[in-house]
Parts: sequence; C-alpha cells; structure tokens
Amino acid sequence: MSSKLENPNSLLPDLERLPRHVAIIMDGNGRWAKKKLLNRVKGHEQGADTVRMIVRATRELGIPFLTLYAFSTENWQRPKTEVMALMALLKRFLVREKDEMLENGIRLSVIGQTERLPDDVQDAMRKTMEATAHGRRMTLTLALSYGGREELVRAVRAMGNRIAEGTLDPEMVDEAVISQHLYTAAMPDPDLMIRTSGEMRISNFLLWQLAYAEMAFTPTLWPDFTKEDYLNILRDFGNRERRFGKTGDQLDPG
Ligand code: FPP
Repeated sequence: MSSKLENPNSLLPDLERLPRHVAIIMDGNGRWAKKKLLNRVKGHEQGADTVRMIVRATRELGIPFLTLYAFSTENWQRPKTEVMALMALLKRFLVREKDEMLENGIRLSVIGQTERLPDDVQDAMRKTMEATAHGRRMTLTLALSYGGREELVRAVRAMGNRIAEGTLDPEMVDEAVISQHLYTAAMPDPDLMIRTSGEMRISNFLLWQLAYAEMAFTPTLWPDFTKEDYLNILRDFGNRERRFGKTGDQLDPG
C-alpha cells in the first residue's frame, strides 16, 4: 500500500512515485524585483538562493536528475549589465557550490553553447565539472546559452556530417539515434517540467526531450518558490496517470 493511502493528509510526495528527472524553467526573477521596487539583478540573486534550496531538496528526495534553465540563447539579448550580472552569479554559484556538490555526490553537467560563455565562467564550469565527475547520487544539469532549436540544428548537422563521411547509414536514423546526438545524450528524458511565474510556455527548452513530460505551471515567482511548493508539485505528479498514448485500461487492466 502506498504511503499516500496510509496517510492521506501527508504533505510528503509518495517516494515510490517520484520523477526520475525534473526540469525547471525558473521564471519571474525580474517581476519579483519589480514588485519590491528593486533592481532586476536582486531578483536573480534571490533566485540563486531558490536554486540552492531546490538542488538540496531534489538530492534529499533521491531524484537522480535535475535540469535547470539558467540562461537561454535568447537571454543574450538582455541589457549588457543584466547579462554580466547573471554571468557573475553563475560563476559564483559554480565556485561556491563545488564543495557541497562533492560532499553530496552531485555531478555537475552543462548543456548549451558553452563556448559563448565568458572565459572565467567556462573555467569555473570546467573545474566544477571535473571535480564532481564521480558524483553518483544526482546529476545537476545547468542549461546555459541553451536553446532547443539550436540543439536540434546542431544534432542534424552532426548526423549529416556522419552520413556524408559514411559512418552513419541514413536508414539507421531513428529516435534513439537523434537522442544520442543531443546535448542530453547521457540522461533520461524529463518526466516532469515545472515552470514558475504563471507563464504557460516551453520557451525553446528541451523541445525533443519534453515529448512525454508532465507539465506543472505555478503562478509563484521563482524567488518565492518554496520547498513546500516543490513537494506539492511532486505529490501531484505521483497522483497523475501517465498514459504515453495508451488507454488507462491498457496500463492498469485490473
Ligand atoms: C527568468 O527570470 C530567469 C532567468 C533568465 C535566469 C535564471 C537565473 C537564476 C535563477 C539565478 C542564477 C542561476 C543559477 C544556476 C545560480 P526573468 O528575469 O525572465 O523574470 P521576468 O520574466 O519576471 O522578467
């Protein structure tokens, strides 16, 4: 019997029915700051605290993959001062969290056009990735200068090159081969995608990988997003029936 049935009032999600991979669009930092008459950068700083809390909670729950949309290919168009502040925050996060990641068996991975990041951010990223490479409890993936369409263009180009040089037979291209050419080749697709701040869009995030993900949208702005909000979404996920195109009876014929 599931713990949910034993204790219907429990706030905790059913640990048997947690997602394996949670992906999050962390939205609303700017609006949070505006509401408080603060500079947008303050919103990102507060958002970085939410990141730390969510990483910790995900690891404690035993969810093995967490992917965070930290900077999109479109975000380069923001005012230069905001881009620079975000890069500084990312670098600080990569440097300061390294030890905690190591202690907790968290492996850092990064997806996106990392070559576009400033050298010092690339450097911090590389060092933390190398140091945490043996982490086995959880993979934390930061999407940095990431865009889903760019990722697909890159994958098609790589497959085209392999076909041209004769190392890939076009007849062998199937869903698995496409997945292997994406930044996310080494991880399972997300089971759950969360977006904060009330927007109900995917915004070029993991376009291929989210094909069967459950979606959870909350009006809460990212800096205000709490552990309780997270646990509520995870509990709700455990109560959903994921059918993958089949009927409910096919999944549970008794
Ligand atoms: C969206 O809010 C958020 C971002 C573009 C950046 C996300 C960055 C962080 C949460 C902080 C740093 C990250 C790490 C990993 C330490 P927005 O600015 O689009 O908000 P708005 O839509 O209200 O303007």
